[in-house]
Amino acid sequence: MPVIEQSVIRGLGFHVPERILTNKDLEELVETSDEWITTRTGIKERHIAAEGEALSDIALQAAKKALADAHMEADDLTHIIVATCTPDSYCPNTACILEHKLGVSGKIAFDINAACTGFTYNLEMARSIIALRPDSVVLIIGGDILSSRTNWADRTTCVLFGDGAGAAVLTGASNDNGKGLKGRILDTILSSDGSIGDMLKFNGGGSSAPYSLGHVVTENHFISMQGREVFKHAIRNMVAVSQEILDRNKVSTDDVSLVITHQANLRIIESLGKKLGITDERVFVNLHKYGNTSAATIPIALAEAREQNRLTKDSLLLVAAFGGGFTWGSALVRFE
Ligand code: UT7
Repeated sequence: MPVIEQSVIRGLGFHVPERILTNKDLEELVETSDEWITTRTGIKERHIAAEGEALSDIALQAAKKALADAHMEADDLTHIIVATCTPDSYCPNTACILEHKLGVSGKIAFDINAACTGFTYNLEMARSIIALRPDSVVLIIGGDILSSRTNWADRTTCVLFGDGAGAAVLTGASNDNGKGLKGRILDTILSSDGSIGDMLKFNGGGSSAPYSLGHVVTENHFISMQGREVFKHAIRNMVAVSQEILDRNKVSTDDVSLVITHQANLRIIESLGKKLGITDERVFVNLHKYGNTSAATIPIALAEAREQNRLTKDSLLLVAAFGGGFTWGSALVRFE
């Protein structure tokens, strides 16, 4: 076996729009209550993009923070990969727009879409690139502006989502400037099942349901979700893929210092912790502040955990994600 360059997270950052929409605000929009939203989801408030604020705008702020955390400049990057299902536009891709806003050019820049699992897919993208080209410096983003695809008259979905973006800068283990974070990625596992993808979708405007000139936007433009079914699949798949990565790396749940899961519902997060036998204080929760920010939940949580000094030396981080597609995945990261 040839020696493969390991990937290391060198910097983290996140950004959310300024405007906050509380559960009380939503009571004015649809027939709901703070009590229902809090007890059924754990969400108290979410941040919503201003008019004209695109994903690349919030990704730019997240990227700048991650680069500063890594003690690097945008010019040091070789790759920019944005994971999103709400890009600025279908063409050009958001990564190229972000590259331009960062004031650089000549990078390998593209988007991927694995919905809420996007950032975890992006971790494996970065690992693969660095394994092939060890001198790569890869900026990965997980971000979404789901408010652009939210039907504000549908109480079953509009209370759930928020906007945001998170970023990470990765390099090879041997490409170390000695100043940034050191989160060595030990492993990633990804999976998907397209046969049940219709349970969570918005396809209006896509090639399966194109709009024509003068076409009035219909419900297929907005998120629809069979919440109860998605709930079961989310728990089942995140528990299985977490257990698989622990077993494959011969570590027990006692060895795990912190678990960061997709932040969609507090009941899902708590259930995952219980099923894996990981105590509550090791399970990261921030969805009360941001709601479900789709591809951004995991990098926002990572950046906040970093700010809270929870990614300390020798700690072992377990990541578990689930999203539309369906897609899911896990990652194990050791901090040095
Ligand atoms: O990010 C991708 C992955 N996404 C997820 O993981 C989300 C997974 N699903 C969930 O988190 C939950 O299923 C929801 C939060 C979406 C819904 O919670 P639930 O406990 O599964 O509620 P439900 O859909 O079974 O609805 C229960 C009741 C219904 O009324 P009836 O039929 O029992 O009379 C709904 O109409 O709650 C009603 N309801 C609401 N009531 C007040 C649904 N939404 C609301 C609301 N306010 N916003």
